[in-house]
Amino acid sequence: MKTPGRNEPCWCGSGKKYKKCHIGQPVPPGFGEELTEVIRAGTRPARPDRVVKGVVSPAPPVPPEIGRPSYAATGEPTERRATNCIKKTADEIRRMRAAGKTARRVLDHVLAAVRPGITTTELDEIAHAKAVELGAYPSPLNYHGFPRSICTSVNEVICHGIPDDRALRDGDIINCDVTVYYEGMHGDCSETVFAGKPDPQSKKLVQTTYDCMMAGIASVEVGGRINEIGKAITAIAHRAGFSVVRDFAGHGIGSQFHMDPQIVHYREPRNRQRIAAGMTFTVEPMINAGSHKCDIWSDNWTAVTRDGKRSAQFEHTILVTEQGVELLTGGDGPPMFQRQLAAGW
Ligand code: MF3
Ligand code: CO
Ligand code: CO
Repeated sequence: MKTPGRNEPCWCGSGKKYKKCHIGQPVPPGFGEELTEVIRAGTRPARPDRVVKGVVSPAPPVPPEIGRPSYAATGEPTERRATNCIKKTADEIRRMRAAGKTARRVLDHVLAAVRPGITTTELDEIAHAKAVELGAYPSPLNYHGFPRSICTSVNEVICHGIPDDRALRDGDIINCDVTVYYEGMHGDCSETVFAGKPDPQSKKLVQTTYDCMMAGIASVEVGGRINEIGKAITAIAHRAGFSVVRDFAGHGIGSQFHMDPQIVHYREPRNRQRIAAGMTFTVEPMINAGSHKCDIWSDNWTAVTRDGKRSAQFEHTILVTEQGVELLTGGDGPPMFQRQLAAGW
């Protein structure tokens, strides 16, 4: 989800800077689409081959018996953004657990296929087939027109990379972001993994980003404030010499892919909203090796670092309970990148 930069004009049209206006409050739907029209040529990629754009092919079909979100046919959600139902009911929580588990199964399946030589279209096809096999709709497909079923973000791509015909190369890092719509709910998760042997700086970036996500989640408690999440994430990122992406945020999630509350990953002391039991939202920090500044490619999706340095991301969907946080997209055992490192990569 897109948020304005602190010094950019507020979305409300007041003419004031965002930081002097609606900062810390939910951004209405549709805002991101305007901002993505700001396209800057001349990005300097760390791996020049990746700026040569790949070919995006049409997505495979989803069988008609699979339940679809409202935007599946038209590209635009028909619901109004629900600002008054932030806490889930018991039945919604049951279905969120099912959606989260399904998203995790698809993510684990696609991560296991990452290797040098595979194209991101092939990874998309693997994830798409698994989602359909499990009876789920791959949520990105046609969400505001997104052309494929998962996001694949390689090296300097921050997020929303579109699967295409370019093959991964030895030493690449890739984030696979899987969201599924299952039993009327969305479950959203992502991991960054290594394709082949990583360089030391990439190892540090990926480990730090994972630590950021887990520290953000660990800061969540009933009655606590949402701004504790960005505070915890920023402390870890800065200590490692990395920066926190500001232009994309975590989000409430449920019957809608993106809903309230908004979860920014940077420090925002003014966002004093309280966390309540029954909330479900994502924590999905994007951490950059260099500057936090980003550009959007002319496809209006692919977000890349302006300096061409690498970016990593992890994401969980969580449920807040009186007993603590439940990882709705939690897996069995350590994340894939740690298994790769343990295997001697
Ligand atoms: N999964 C992304 C998130 O974490 C959103 C992807 S939107 C898409 O919020 F359209 F690009 F799929
Ligand atoms: Co996601
Ligand atoms: Co998300």
